Amino acid sequence: MSLWQKAIEDAVQKTKANIGKFGGLFPHVSENGKYILNDNCDWTEGFWSGMLWLCYEHTKDEAFREAAVQTVESFKKRLEAHRVLDHHDIGFLYSLSAKAQWIIERDPAAKQLALEAADVMMRRWRPKGRYIQAWGPEGDPENGGRIIIDCMMNLPLLYWAYDQTGNKEYLDVAVTHADKSRRFLVRGDDSSYHTFYFDQETGESLRGGTHQGYRDASTWTRGQAWGIYGFALSYRYTKNPLYLETSRRMARYFLERLPEDDVVYWDFDAPVTPETKRDSSASAIASAGLVELLSHLNAEDADRAFLEDGLHRSMKSLVENYSTIGQPDAEGLLEHGSYSVRGGSAPDDYMIWGDYYYLEALLRMEKGIAGYWYERS
Ligand code: GLY
Repeated sequence: MSLWQKAIEDAVQKTKANIGKFGGLFPHVSENGKYILNDNCDWTEGFWSGMLWLCYEHTKDEAFREAAVQTVESFKKRLEAHRVLDHHDIGFLYSLSAKAQWIIERDPAAKQLALEAADVMMRRWRPKGRYIQAWGPEGDPENGGRIIIDCMMNLPLLYWAYDQTGNKEYLDVAVTHADKSRRFLVRGDDSSYHTFYFDQETGESLRGGTHQGYRDASTWTRGQAWGIYGFALSYRYTKNPLYLETSRRMARYFLERLPEDDVVYWDFDAPVTPETKRDSSASAIASAGLVELLSHLNAEDADRAFLEDGLHRSMKSLVENYSTIGQPDAEGLLEHGSYSVRGGSAPDDYMIWGDYYYLEALLRMEKGIAGYWYERS
């Protein structure tokens, strides 16, 4: 059995055991080796849904489908109640739940739910500044003019909504936001700001900053990973070569800075000491993003060997040094994720999005089962 197959088998077994352990709630990050369970009220619930759908696609085991369908029901109720949807992460939430069900089963109600979610996301568009506001209510003094790199992974819901409906507003908003992110969040040396501020009235660019990174001018590794994957997906939908180039450059920046064991620290600019935290989730997201990026490069591409090697090294280290293979009762798949090191929130734990992207990358590399960011042909 190959290393990837072994890792997939372990992930499927743990995900199945977790259905019972989680009892209809949603894992977020861990504390003392156990997942903190939420009802459907944060930005992370879609990842559990996505893991269930991935496992169902791989195994055809009805237990996964049943649990996944229940999560979609929960997302339906959340949308109906408009509960905790006042942020841009609607894309993460509904791409991996309702949109996943549509992609797998062609369920029209799931499609309708994902389209309604796209409409909720569109309410984050701020026409004066021409961006999607990440966090907080409109006009919020701190966050009203703020975009963040993570949003690149929310845009696929809007691109998909355009493909499904022909309504060009979804596309225009997504493309304008992607262009703005490329211009202001990605620096000239291919590193990235986590966040950027604009004047809410005039749209004038103000300054870059961070929320979870080491400092304003540093490069938070998870943010860089969101960019690698997100720009590659913007390229998939638009075929704008600038997006592909941005994904490629961000990937090179990421891989050129891999530490000795090939899994990144939480920020590329944090001083490295024996205590410095890793973020295994950043390496998992980057790996899934590299698979997407590589799918757009031709066989002779000058970067292909470098990117493939970086992908292989990252995934090998995740499986061998960070996974919970050998701990059959563990809830998480990857150890040493860092939600917010400076904020003191889960700085060395399981993160459900780390588990999701790790499984997505494994299943796509080994079985050709992609995630739920775009329609399959
Ligand atoms: N999107 C939030 C985070 O990566 O922590």
